Amino acid sequence: MSPSARTTAVVTGGAQGIGRAVADRLAADGADVIVGDLRDPGDLGVRQRWVELDVTSELSAGALAAVVGESVDVLVNNAGIMFEASIAEQTVEQWDMAMAVNLRGPWLMTKALLPQLQADGGGAVVNIGSIEGIGSNPLHTAYSASKAGVHGLTAAMAVDLGPLGIRCNAVAPGWIDTALNRDYLDRLPNRDQAIAELAVLHPVGHIGDPADVASTVAFLASRDARFVSGQVVVVDGARTTKLSLPPSLSPDA
Ligand SMILES: NC(=O)c1ccc[n+]([C@@H]2O[C@H](COP(=O)([O-])OP(=O)(O)OC[C@H]3O[C@@H](n4cnc5c(N)ncnc54)[C@H](O)[C@@H]3O)[C@@H](O)[C@H]2O)c1
Repeated sequence: MSPSARTTAVVTGGAQGIGRAVADRLAADGADVIVGDLRDPGDLGVRQRWVELDVTSELSAGALAAVVGESVDVLVNNAGIMFEASIAEQTVEQWDMAMAVNLRGPWLMTKALLPQLQADGGGAVVNIGSIEGIGSNPLHTAYSASKAGVHGLTAAMAVDLGPLGIRCNAVAPGWIDTALNRDYLDRLPNRDQAIAELAVLHPVGHIGDPADVASTVAFLASRDARFVSGQVVVVDGARTTKLSLPPSLSPDA
């Protein structure tokens, strides 16, 4: 995508959080952005419009594809859900829902928009994976498995869709300051201590912002990345690069 050309982008889960920042960034770069989300985001900036979407539904994905026009330059598969549960407590329905939103969703949206992504010389797909597709936090079997699946899907789509002119990459964010995480931290009795300890985990000294993910997505979606495909770009302030040490050996202690 070139910032100067008139382009169209679809961002799933763009009503809030990372998806909202991605939609704002692509619109600021000159794209007409369709925000596909279960819920109405309310006030959207110029160049943006909401289309009701459930990424788990083939019918819903097809309905969005029918109203976006003949060409889509960029598809950002961002919609995702997460829950905490041990394997013993987790239900089959919870597992299936995580897979349906996080993994089937990106596949289904890409499938539904394939004709538009091929039009006009090809487009770019950016999937939002996670560092939890590389490692895992406790009680996240379904989430981690789905995000590792997103990384695998990204590689497979890059291979299969490259000949059609479609590049496919993933961004794997680390801890990003969204409403979801803020609510979680606000519920902790030791919130300030948790924030200080989180900063220590990150060699850059702080957690990430949705705009940090959005700028990486914008690069991968742009013509500047025309030879980049099949990659998972980690955006985590080097958190997963830093090896852990026991407290007695850690200079941070
Ligand atoms: N926040 C983080 O720290 C973090 C870290 C790594 C990866 N991620 C990933 O980034 C993405 C966005 O995360 P976020 O923190 O902004 O989440 P969020 O919960 O703030 O926003 C998710 C959005 O997706 C929408 N959505 C949920 N299910 C949907 C469905 N079936 N169809 C359409 N839309 C649906 C929601 O309505 C919401 O607007 C997710 O894929 C998440 O797994 C987030």
